[in-house]
Amino acid sequence: MNDIRDSVRKKYAEAIRKNRSCCGSGTSCCGSQGPDPITEGIYDGTSREKIPDAVLGQSFGCGSPVEMAGLKPGETVLDLGSGAGLDAFLAGGEVGPSGKVYGLDMTDEMILTAESNRVHWGLDNVEFLKGFIEDIPLPDGSVDAVVSNCVINLSPDKDAVFREVFRVLKPGGRISLSDVVFLRPVPEEIRNSIDAWAGCIAGALGKEEYADKLKAAGFEDVRITPTRVYEFSLGQLQEMFPDMPGAAALDAKDAAAGAWISAVKPLSC
Ligand SMILES: C[S@@+](CC[C@H](N)C(=O)[O-])C[C@H]1O[C@@H](n2cnc3c(N)ncnc32)[C@H](O)[C@@H]1O
Repeated sequence: MNDIRDSVRKKYAEAIRKNRSCCGSGTSCCGSQGPDPITEGIYDGTSREKIPDAVLGQSFGCGSPVEMAGLKPGETVLDLGSGAGLDAFLAGGEVGPSGKVYGLDMTDEMILTAESNRVHWGLDNVEFLKGFIEDIPLPDGSVDAVVSNCVINLSPDKDAVFREVFRVLKPGGRISLSDVVFLRPVPEEIRNSIDAWAGCIAGALGKEEYADKLKAAGFEDVRITPTRVYEFSLGQLQEMFPDMPGAAALDAKDAAAGAWISAVKPLSC
């Protein structure tokens, strides 16, 4: 568990230090040239005009979960793995001055960048916390909605994440997540690639397994909607994930997808 966490932390600390997007235009954090199949264009919908270019270039996401979260003024929101803060800022705009957004991340460099972006963006209702998504530093039943963008696949203990998310949500609270899922089973060699784990692929759950884990944590009305199938070329995969054997990479070519995941904590809880 600690090995995976350390590799993930190192990767994102380095990427934000170099101040470039994981996968946005130009060179991706994974090393490949050209537009990245995961991050490219994820904010082209309604949010784009609200986002300063500099912050857009620090996005490491795979979707736009805040757009789908139906946030209302006055709500309290938690962004898991908030990175440089983009989704937390979008949420901050939605919930307004009477609401509150917590961004949680384990990487010092991300927290520092997010805080500096927050001051620039001028949002007083957003606060960044350092910690693990498997051990959320917030009280039981304290948030209305949890959002997250391409983070849960990175966790070595997803059951703990879902348990914690369920705990901190108020009864009737909801989740709106963008994450990577596998659409079919993939070989162990893909799962064993640390480069691919830190690159948001190897740790992804199968679509059904994702739903089952959410239900086991107590969630209802679980929906998993694939939004973009990743059509990686073999060259791209080998360049992005050098420790993945070529034959396994062939299997990964179109096995993963970005997805929007929503669910509700029952009112009776
Ligand atoms: C792929 S980046 C996504 C960042 C941000 N959500 C975005 O869309 O730009 C993953 C982020 O999650 C953080 N992270 C990964 N695993 C974590 C964990 N177990 N606990 C807390 N933060 C974690 C990393 O430090 C990194 O900032």
